[in-house]
Amino acid sequence: MHDFSISQDQSPEILYRDLISAARALTDGEPDAIANMANVSALIWQYVPDLNWAGFYRVVDDELVLGPFQGKTACIRISMGKGVCGTAAATDKVQRVADVHAFPGHIACDADSRSELVVPVSSSGKVIAVLDLDSPLPERFSAEDETGMTDLIAAIANSLG
Ligand code: SME
Repeated sequence: MHDFSISQDQSPEILYRDLISAARALTDGEPDAIANMANVSALIWQYVPDLNWAGFYRVVDDELVLGPFQGKTACIRISMGKGVCGTAAATDKVQRVADVHAFPGHIACDADSRSELVVPVSSSGKVIAVLDLDSPLPERFSAEDETGMTDLIAAIANSLG
């Protein structure tokens, strides 16, 4: 439906600049957080290479509950502090994991996943969700990816909760 013409063969700065602009355009004026999470996960899935899962877990009653995503079916509920997602949500800190097999308590929803990037989504000073990205490649996520995805989430956080 939307064609943002984002090239994947470009520097991380340009890729994330374009992704952030597209994410703003997709969510601007739309108050439904689930719809916005659905489109943002589809946007990332379409334009960010080498992912096998991209989506959101929402904080519901102090637990993470599966939200809109792209990829294989996944674990539905994750306790705060558990796995990479639960750690990101409990600490409000990005988790960039080069090798998921070396992360204590990693939850293997998809056995193909080798590296992971989880960005907390905060609104009014509270973690309301996390963005979870998985890759079948070890060390897939760079410091630029961490900064870019953090900036993307900060730019649209008000549309996600
Ligand atoms: N690996 C995550 C669980 C979610 S799936 O990757 C979609 C974790 O350890 O929290």
